[in-house]
Amino acid sequence: MDQILLITHVIAAMMWTGAVFMAALVDWPAFKRQAPAGRFPFQAVIGQGSGVFPWVYLAMTIMLLSSVGLAWRHWPSDGFGCVLLGLKAAALSFMVGSTVYGTLRTWPTLQFATDNEAFTIYGRYMVRAYLIFGCGVAGHVAGLLFSRRAEWFGY
Ligand code: HEM
Repeated sequence: MDQILLITHVIAAMMWTGAVFMAALVDWPAFKRQAPAGRFPFQAVIGQGSGVFPWVYLAMTIMLLSSVGLAWRHWPSDGFGCVLLGLKAAALSFMVGSTVYGTLRTWPTLQFATDNEAFTIYGRYMVRAYLIFGCGVAGHVAGLLFSRRAEWFGY
């Protein structure tokens, strides 16, 4: 059970963090370069967004379920372990909150925006994407520290 929880947790974490990395740091700069000056690349952005959507929500669901399961089965008795789990919970909450906000607020608004409005709306969306990526990286580091804290720090 522990192995299944940990493996699905890590795969979902990689999938989600990797998808946000790709969208924010690779796809968006490429879309902007290819679009005519001043024109927002609606087709590319919406195509990319709807393609990645089911995978991000799948990863989010797995992360939520596996996090509860892992925390339940590996609840720490040391302060450092509790801080790391707290950080991971905060990182995951931000990732979930931002993603759901993007789906419910940013995407519907983007569909009816002019080019200029779309650049502003998507610019803000990208700032949140960089933060989501940062939270994903922080969650990975905290996960590594949590699992190895006895070996590395003697907890
Ligand atoms: C930002 C979101 C998160 C990411 C990216 C993430 C990533 C990871 C990774 C990569 C590991 C495996 C480390 C290793 O053994 O090499 C791990 C382990 C673990 N995660 Fe997360 N995690 C996240 C959120 C959470 C949350 C919210 C919880 C629960 C509150 C949680 C609970 C755990 C536990 C208990 C382990 C260690 C299990 C063990 O002792 O082997 N994670 N996480």
